[in-house]
Amino acid sequence: MSIASQRMNRIKASPSIVISAKAMEMARAGHDVIALSAGEPDFDTPDNIKIAAMRAIIEGRTKYSPVTGIPEFREAICRKLERENGLSHTPDQILVCNGGKQVIYNALTATLDPDDEVIIPAPFWVSYPDMVLLSGGTPVVVATEGANEFRLTPSLLEGAITAKTKWLILNNPCNPSGAAYSAQDLEGLAEVLRRHPHVWVLTDDIYEHILYGDEPFATMAQVAPDLHGRTLTMNGLSKAYCMTGWRIGYGAGPKELITAMSKLQSQSTSGASTISQWAGVEALDGDQSFIRDNVAVFEDRRDLGVSILNQANGLSCNSPNGAFYLYVDCRETLGKRTPEGGTIENDGDFAKYLLDSEEVAVVHGDAFGLSPYFRISYALATDRLEEACMRIQRACASLSG
Ligand SMILES: Cc1ncc(COP(=O)(O)O)c(C=O)c1O
Repeated sequence: MSIASQRMNRIKASPSIVISAKAMEMARAGHDVIALSAGEPDFDTPDNIKIAAMRAIIEGRTKYSPVTGIPEFREAICRKLERENGLSHTPDQILVCNGGKQVIYNALTATLDPDDEVIIPAPFWVSYPDMVLLSGGTPVVVATEGANEFRLTPSLLEGAITAKTKWLILNNPCNPSGAAYSAQDLEGLAEVLRRHPHVWVLTDDIYEHILYGDEPFATMAQVAPDLHGRTLTMNGLSKAYCMTGWRIGYGAGPKELITAMSKLQSQSTSGASTISQWAGVEALDGDQSFIRDNVAVFEDRRDLGVSILNQANGLSCNSPNGAFYLYVDCRETLGKRTPEGGTIENDGDFAKYLLDSEEVAVVHGDAFGLSPYFRISYALATDRLEEACMRIQRACASLSG
């Protein structure tokens, strides 16, 4: 009999983490593998943030944090939400967590009863459906269209809502598609939500700053202030501040929700790292100019990746407005034969072929709920990205039939 619970058997390990771990293992064994699988900026955490953390350590600000976060950091988060998003929150409406991931996990676990439904537009970040399942809820996956840049439309949303719907999860800009929602897009979705007052919105804004083009960032509670009372705005330091390993995310929402989430956190991990939160105060209050510089580098890499991959036989991808991913259509490679005599039946086969033949790790679209695609992350050194994309081109050229 398995030691794992039935609840645990409902979920799988995060595919992007599994593939990245495999790539790392291959690299340790001496292979020249290029991992395009991890969602992690290659830039170092800025020095001013590191120094703030060192200062906290040296000055002994190293004790347990309150479960909801140190007051100074929650105040800094309120300032950030006001300054950048026009959102007004008090510190008791903020919960600091161990990464953005825990915000989402806490929210779902604290609110879902058996059979409650959560609408998740696909392609989605790999963890959403499994977190819903773990919480006893039912993920309702809604496929979006490449032709509409993988954005959820009001009619798709309307068609997915039932009496059991508890949450809509909206990720803007989106991992894995890079799709960004304009204020106008969000207003269209808000119009639907107004007709269904039992539906809450969890907006995952972790890629807020990784945005290209002229359209400013918009978030639901800002565009639709009347939905403020049923919106959880989630954000974190991992991506824009290059702080993946510091494990800091936060949620801002109605006090009743935040209280339920912090009750859960009080019985699981307690407060997030005090040192990381002091670094977070500096991240949010300090110099922001490096973000613009990093985003300019990401934009050049996006253009490079789009250009090389669109020249590969059987591949096509659009040029997304946000995040640091490309979601590449590989339907024209299906049915083709590899030099070893295998057949590409699906996007999982294609990703495996890239790893076996050219030592490039990507994540297959099935993991994100929409096939046949694969995701590449371009958050790695530009020369390695270029080399990886050329290898993908070569792998495609070697397919026949
Ligand atoms: C869409 C999305 N949400 C949340 C997270 C989690 O972020 P964190 O590393 O802060 O837990 C990620 C990380 O990859 C992500 O891509």
